[in-house]
Amino acid sequence: MATGSSFMKYGTITSLLVVLLAYWFRSPFHGPGLDERLDVVLSSLLRAESKVGVNNVARPKVAIGFGGCVDIIVDSVALLNKIGLPPTDQPLHHDYIENAEQLAQSFGYFFAPGAASERYVMNETLFSQLVEASRELPGNRWAVGGNAPVMAGRMAIEGCDVLLGGSFSTDFNDVLPEHITVAGSAVEEPDIHLIMEYPSGANWGPYTSRRANRYIVHSDDHNPYLDSMEEFEKQLKDFHPDLLVVGGLQMMDNFPFKQGEREALLGHLSHMLSSASVETSVHFEMASFVDEGLLSDLLELVLPHADSLGMNEQELPNLLSLFRGANVTVLSDPNPRVATVLDQMRELYRLVNEQHRESGLGRALTRLHVHTLAFQAMIVTRGSQWKNTMSATAKASLVANRHVCGSSDIDPSKARLIMDESFSVSRQEGSPRIPLQETRPVSCWDEGDYQICVAPVLVCTEVYQTAGGGDNISAAGLVLQI
Ligand SMILES: *[C@@H]1O[C@H](CO)[C@@H](O)[C@H](O)[C@H]1NC(C)=O
Ligand SMILES: *[C@@H]1O[C@H](CO)[C@@H](O)[C@H](O)[C@H]1NC(C)=O
Ligand SMILES: *[C@@H]1O[C@H](CO)[C@@H](O)[C@H](O)[C@H]1NC(C)=O
Repeated sequence: MATGSSFMKYGTITSLLVVLLAYWFRSPFHGPGLDERLDVVLSSLLRAESKVGVNNVARPKVAIGFGGCVDIIVDSVALLNKIGLPPTDQPLHHDYIENAEQLAQSFGYFFAPGAASERYVMNETLFSQLVEASRELPGNRWAVGGNAPVMAGRMAIEGCDVLLGGSFSTDFNDVLPEHITVAGSAVEEPDIHLIMEYPSGANWGPYTSRRANRYIVHSDDHNPYLDSMEEFEKQLKDFHPDLLVVGGLQMMDNFPFKQGEREALLGHLSHMLSSASVETSVHFEMASFVDEGLLSDLLELVLPHADSLGMNEQELPNLLSLFRGANVTVLSDPNPRVATVLDQMRELYRLVNEQHRESGLGRALTRLHVHTLAFQAMIVTRGSQWKNTMSATAKASLVANRHVCGSSDIDPSKARLIMDESFSVSRQEGSPRIPLQETRPVSCWDEGDYQICVAPVLVCTEVYQTAGGGDNISAAGLVLQI
């Protein structure tokens, strides 16, 4: 660890204090009941969130690409039962889906651990069948989908002016919130994404899901080509955004491009990003990628231009593995410990910045946000452009509950703290532990040249929707930092 020595010095000084604090907070005189504890954490997070606001007079300007779709959201097991697809006896990873058997195997692979996943369906007949069956399924819902529109929606609701790069049908434009300008051409048939949700403890044959999550399939025609990019780029010049966000590139994953097509698109994007003004911060939102060719293009052409990265607990080890020169990791622990995630974040931060210094290209990485089920974690370089890290981490945590429960008012009776009462800041032996203090639930401390903040999530127990969670959470974190 590059930051090891200064980190350990800090560690020995504070570890005694931390132990004492932990003791104080665990002593029976200060041990409120579970419900009371949750109420205190909630009110403290709300206070932390409201400490800073978005400047509503000079609304921050955010440009977000790419793509968009209509989501149809269904219960996964109900759908599989409806199409008569029996549970597989062989859960298996597939880079993309060609037939119903592969769908069952791929779904089974991610369902039991409860890991978020998204796959391209190469077989249009199969995809249409799935969408038709979903339309007929009671309880289905339609929603504006895609990373860029969801992030745009959240940013606009939070008080930003947004330029959204995507090609939408005209009726779609009508349902977008105010303060969003669309850059892109109109399409007749929007791409449809099928969101197969499952709650924690759902059963599919012999499998039981360990946590609520979703498996997404799509068979896009428009999104993989980033077909709004040219129009977006044109309008970007006069928009002068404070923040430029790139997401939705996983629609290119395993898409059957013609030779050289993908490289040309990403080369174009790379040029656009490298031309961004220094006053514009650039954020890249990771996603469920397994296509090694695409990933290596992203590492070369997109990532070096980002000041900030956002991702979940699956995407972090995957990206880290690629930076170490190893293969993609398809499935990682869906409930990782804080210490594990922080160590991975430190290493990613170090590797990305090392590469930046060596190549002299692009921008330094000054912000890294990882969202997990149990907690939110951020690394932000001290003295960088990013403000209010503590409040942003609190807000990200609150939005995680709001999104999954589908309500902006948080009901503590539908929430649970699953983060431990204290966490170790690293897996390195002798690392200090930090107690979770109900009245100050966001823990922030300095290491090396950056600050780390960790906030517990009030995990929603009555799940309305998991899909789009990462986008809402990432956008909510960013909005207080620009
Ligand atoms: C595509 O899916 C259909 C419907 O499930 C199936 O009948 C067909 O065999 C599949 N095609 C291929 C090439 O697997
Ligand atoms: C990495 O991927 C390559 C190509 O897909 C494969 O041949 C190799 O066995 C993989 N290595 C490991 C360690 O999984
Ligand atoms: C997440 O974002 C979408 C799109 O902007 C929005 O409709 C939805 O309400 C958001 N979820 C929450 C809980 O804010």
